[in-house]
Amino acid sequence: MSGSEWTCRLSSMHEWESPYYEPSLPVSEKSNPLTRDIDRASAGCIVRMLQACDSQMFLEEAGATYQRLMSDEVVETLMEVAKKVELILKDPRDSLVVLSGCGTSGRLAFLVTSAFNRALKELNQSPVYSYIIAGGDKALFSSQEAPEDDPKLGMLSLKEVCEGKKCVLFIGISCGLSAPFVAGQLDLCLQNPEVYTPVLVGFNPTHQARDEPIPGCSFTFRSVVQRMEELAKSQKAFLINPAVGPEAISGSSRMKGGSATKILLEVVLSAAHAAAFTHTPITQQGILQHMRVYEKTLEIPYAHNEGLSALLEAAGKSLQRGRRVCYLGWGSLGVLGLIDASECVPTFGADYEDVRGFISGGYNELKNNEGPLGPDFRISHEDFLHLVLPSLDDHDMVLLIYTQTDDVGDVEKLARRVREKTSNLHAVYHRVDGDTAATQWELCTKLFLNALSTGAHVLKGKIYQNHMMDLQVTNSKLYCRATRLLQNLSGRPESKCEEALLKAVYKVDNLTVEITSSDISTHTHTARTRTKVVPLALVCLLTGCSLAEAELRLEQQPIVRDAVEACLS
Ligand code: F6P
Repeated sequence: MSGSEWTCRLSSMHEWESPYYEPSLPVSEKSNPLTRDIDRASAGCIVRMLQACDSQMFLEEAGATYQRLMSDEVVETLMEVAKKVELILKDPRDSLVVLSGCGTSGRLAFLVTSAFNRALKELNQSPVYSYIIAGGDKALFSSQEAPEDDPKLGMLSLKEVCEGKKCVLFIGISCGLSAPFVAGQLDLCLQNPEVYTPVLVGFNPTHQARDEPIPGCSFTFRSVVQRMEELAKSQKAFLINPAVGPEAISGSSRMKGGSATKILLEVVLSAAHAAAFTHTPITQQGILQHMRVYEKTLEIPYAHNEGLSALLEAAGKSLQRGRRVCYLGWGSLGVLGLIDASECVPTFGADYEDVRGFISGGYNELKNNEGPLGPDFRISHEDFLHLVLPSLDDHDMVLLIYTQTDDVGDVEKLARRVREKTSNLHAVYHRVDGDTAATQWELCTKLFLNALSTGAHVLKGKIYQNHMMDLQVTNSKLYCRATRLLQNLSGRPESKCEEALLKAVYKVDNLTVEITSSDISTHTHTARTRTKVVPLALVCLLTGCSLAEAELRLEQQPIVRDAVEACLS
C-alpha cells in the first residue's frame, strides 16, 4: 500500500462512528475502515495498521458519538467502583470481588485476579478476588464457546463461588455486551441486591447490547442492561462501556476489547488498593493519570516497528510452511503467551500445534482454580523440552518472553538448548526503566503478541479483507456472525446464506426437516467437529456447486482467501 493511500485511510479514522456505517452492527462487530486491505498488506504495513487501530482506544471525546475510555462519565464510574472495592478491602469478612467472562474476557479475569490477590498476599492480607471463566479452567487455554450461551451455567457458577458470602461485588465482562453466560450472572445479581452489586464492563453503547432472545430465559442481554441502567442512577449497579472502535480483524475482541478490559480493571483495582493500604484518595486526577500511563504504554511495542515487522514476517513464514511458533515465557508474561497462543485456534482456525505457549514452572506458577489440567494441556518448559524441542529446526520460530526480574540464568540455559535446534530464536525482554510497572510490561507483551500472531496469520492468508473467514460456528454469536459474513460476501439473502451454512455444518446437499426444525444450539453443537464450514458454504453460494465440489476446490486452493477470490472473480 502506498504512503498516500495509507494517509487517506488514517484520515477516515472516525468513519465507523457515523450512524450510516454498518448501521445494523454494534461497534464491537463492525469492520474497521483502517484495516480493510490488511489481507494484502506487507508486514510493515500490517504493524502500522494495528498500531492505528490500537490508538483508537484512547481517541479524544470531543465531538464523538460514543463515550471513550477517558470520558468524564466513565472515569466517574471507575471511581465509584473503586470505592466499592476499597470498602471490601478494608473489611473483607464475608465479602468477595468476582470477575467473570467468556473466552478472552474470562482469561483476563483470571490474569487480573491472580495479580491483585498476589498483591494482597504481599501485604499479608487474605485474597478477596475470584475469577469465573465460562467452561472452567480448560477455557483458559482452549476455546470452549458453547458454555458462553448458557445463562444458567453462569448463574450456578456465580452462586457456587459466592456461597456463604454476604457482600459481593460482581464484575461481568462481555466486550460485545452479548454473552448469555454473563447476562445470567447479572440477572442473578439484580434479583439478589442485598448480596450482589453488579458491574458490567464492555465496549458498546447500551442501546447496542445484544437483544436476541435467550432460550429458556425471560431476559435478553439488552433487557438486563436496561435494568442496570435504572439502578445505576442510585449507584446500585455500574456500567463501564466506552467505545474503543472496531477490531482490526472484525469481531476479534481478544485484541482491543481484551486490552481495554485489562486497562480498566487494573485502573479500578489499583486505585482501590492505594486507597485501602496507602491512604491515597480515589480521585479523578489519579484515575486519569493512570490511564495516561497506559496510553503511553501503547507506544512501546510499536516503537520497535522494524523489529516487530521482521518477527511478524518470520512467524508468517513458519506458519506458511506448516511449521511452529513457540512462546517460552516467564511469570505473568508467560501466561500472556499461553493465552495468545491458545486464541489462535478459534480466531484463525489454526491447529493447536501451530502456535503454542509454555510457561516456566507450569501449573505451579499459574495457581489456577482447578490446578493441572491433564495431558491435553501441557504448558511447562519441561513439556516443551520433551514434546516439542526434538522436532524443531530453522523453519520453526521460538520467542522467549521475560523481564529482568526473572531468572536470567534460566533463560540463558533454555536459549542454549533451543539454539542447538534452531537459529530462528528471538526474545522480547523488558528492562526496568524509570518506574515501569509489571502491568505495563503485561500490556506491552499482550499488544506485541496479538500483533505477531494476527499478522502472521494474515500473511498466511487466513483473512479475507479484514474478516476471519474460517471461523468456528460453535455458539450463537458466531453462528450469527457467520451468516452475516456469508451475506456480505455473497450478496445473497439471509435465508439462502443460513441454508448454505447448515448444509456445510451437516455435510448434506439437501436439508432435511429434522435439520431445519432444530434450534441453533443443535447446529452449533454439530459444528464443533467440522472444519472450514464458512468457506465451504461461501464457495457453494458463489458457484452453485455441491459440497463435494466445494471441498475439492478448497483442497486445491488451501489458502482460503485465494479460494474465495477465485470464486468471486
Ligand atoms: O465466542 C467466542 C468469543 O468471541 C471469544 O473470541 C471472546 O473472547 C468471547 O467470545 C467473549 O466475548 P465477549 O467478551 O464479547 O462476551
